[in-house]
Amino acid sequence: MPLVTSKEMFEKAYAGGYAIGAFNVNNMEIVQGITEAAMEEKAPLILQVSAGARKYAKHVYLMKLIEAALEDTGLPICVHLDHGPDFETCKSCIDGGFTSVMIDGSSKPFAENIEVTKKVVEYAHAHGVVVEGELGQLAGIEDDVNVESHSYTDPAQVQEFVEKTGVDSLAIAIGTSHGAYKFKPGHKPELRFDILEEVTQRLPGFPIVLHGASSVIPEFVEKINKYGGAMPDAIGIPEDMLRQAATSAVCKINIDSDLRLAMTATVREYFAEHPADFDPRQYLKPAREAIKDMVKRKITNVLGCGGKA
Ligand code: G3H
Ligand code: 13P
Ligand code: ZN
Repeated sequence: MPLVTSKEMFEKAYAGGYAIGAFNVNNMEIVQGITEAAMEEKAPLILQVSAGARKYAKHVYLMKLIEAALEDTGLPICVHLDHGPDFETCKSCIDGGFTSVMIDGSSKPFAENIEVTKKVVEYAHAHGVVVEGELGQLAGIEDDVNVESHSYTDPAQVQEFVEKTGVDSLAIAIGTSHGAYKFKPGHKPELRFDILEEVTQRLPGFPIVLHGASSVIPEFVEKINKYGGAMPDAIGIPEDMLRQAATSAVCKINIDSDLRLAMTATVREYFAEHPADFDPRQYLKPAREAIKDMVKRKITNVLGCGGKA
């Protein structure tokens, strides 16, 4: 099975009331953990690569790892650029074999966002690649950009944006945010389902994307803190809220922090229990297993895409 775009995945997800998980990859253990889980659950899959991941591991290494996973699992896999910062990065990923790119113009004025997104769409579509755009800004940290508070998507802008750019999917801001500190301690987690509903009415049948959708599961934060970490105020989006979103027009749900937390908690625990070990395989093996378990949990509790591959 060759790499696929997300087009057919999203059509089926929209019609079937489920979402596809888009998981960030940075190294071999992460790729293996995610793809083994998806294979066992027979789940369609998006593996996404950030600019930071390309810098860390190099494009070619990640691409070859994903190709190996494709051969190993036989799954339909889409490989996607997460938060493409500019046209050049998107072009480089398209030329380098990705089947989907995000151009993140969300911090730019509306007209500039349209301009850069349209340029990426023209190049991508000419090469059989699909494009995700973004309107509205999530609070939290993305690469080097730190946004203090949400700038929710304005539903009045979405039709014009999609029509003028030709994007294939749209990321919107409804209260999710990146990282492990999504709500201030004592604040009730809340998502603006009213905005999602209005966007859906204005873009019937169009696939919507949620970024910043980790749940920051207390069990893993507690383990990190138990074994020497210091993350006392980490809070995420409750899984039932994300499950609700997955049954709507939301076809892609981005998850990275939950994988990082699971991996880190497992490695910390391993070293606490095996202080004399120094073979990376000894601690990366349970870490890879923790990634696999987390992805299975997401497929069941949040995405609903098990058995849909
Ligand atoms: O939204 C950002 C993703 O979690 C990727 O993070 O830029 O640190 O690779 P990164
Ligand atoms: P989390 O930080 O909530 O996992 O979000 C990841 C993401 O949106 C990647 O684009
Ligand atoms: Zn994101």
